[in-house]
Amino acid sequence: MKLPRNFFKPLAIGAPAPLRELPLKLERMIHFVPPHVEKMRAKVPELIAQVDVVLGNLEDAIPADAKTAARAGFITMAQANDFGATGLWTRINALNSPWVLDDIREVVAAVGQKLDVIMLPKVEGAWDIHYLDQLLAQLEAKHAITKPILIHAILETAEGVTNVEAIATASPRMHGVSLGPADLAASRAMKTTRVGGGHPDYRVLADAEPGTGADTPRATYQQDPWHYTMAKMVDACAAAGIKAFYGPFGDFSDPAACEAQFRNSFLLGCAGAWTLHPSQVAIAKRVFSPDPAEVAFAKKIIAAMPDGSGAVMIDGKMQDDATCKQAKVLVDLARLVAAKDPGLAARYRL
Ligand code: GLV
Ligand code: MG
Repeated sequence: MKLPRNFFKPLAIGAPAPLRELPLKLERMIHFVPPHVEKMRAKVPELIAQVDVVLGNLEDAIPADAKTAARAGFITMAQANDFGATGLWTRINALNSPWVLDDIREVVAAVGQKLDVIMLPKVEGAWDIHYLDQLLAQLEAKHAITKPILIHAILETAEGVTNVEAIATASPRMHGVSLGPADLAASRAMKTTRVGGGHPDYRVLADAEPGTGADTPRATYQQDPWHYTMAKMVDACAAAGIKAFYGPFGDFSDPAACEAQFRNSFLLGCAGAWTLHPSQVAIAKRVFSPDPAEVAFAKKIIAAMPDGSGAVMIDGKMQDDATCKQAKVLVDLARLVAAKDPGLAARYRL
């Protein structure tokens, strides 16, 4: 491990100093755009007003013969639009692919000053982050980029999950980690063709009632196959001071299941999720903006404990230093949402 005093030094002469704190940004949804499709690029100005992050996807879902067009299309859309407070990200190809070196070199050269975050797929360990970290520093220096481009890792291989703590702390460039259930399922040999969500066969069977036969029907309960990974990722990210996200939900015809998957991740500590279809944007906005009733109760806790210490009862519920911290998480997020959304600001009374 690097010495603490060296950790925050630029990795190339002339590269900007690494950030010590992540910028405070609302990132409820990372909206994927296929940049080789002109019709989709034309919608970017509209999207900028609707989503928190616009991501130009260069990796999976882009056909091999459109990889160069996607890269050029991303550069065009980045140059053509003013993103304001909306994040501009790209998902580059994997480090073992034939496209990735040109993805990084061309994108940073053309729009490195505008780019907030590079999403790196199929991260297996800290070594993948170190490679991109060094290369970005060299390119930032070469192109006189003044703010560091951050790295977001996708957690989508068994080896990556094993190494998630080392990945989260590999560089001051680390912005966060997203759970990628599709590649992860394949990497683990999970027997599913779904992209996120539950599975009808992943369940526990209730005990048999005493005296009933083996063929008497018993209740079964569906379980969450992503719980372990999500919790492990959230702990690794929170401990490293970076953000955790749920990734894609593939069944566009089942908004209720998408909402349930997003909500589980929100409750466990995630900041947002990917939206692959326009219909998922409203779901992410609803889920990752705290509930006004919860915010009202959290404000009551904080008001009753101005210095955050002691113990009080509110509506029959015990509050102390710890619940005051919980309340602060909700109110801080509500303030971030309110700054962007006047409708919710009014409902939060902030
Ligand atoms: C995302 O890239 C996934 O594989 O789920
Ligand atoms: Mg993937």
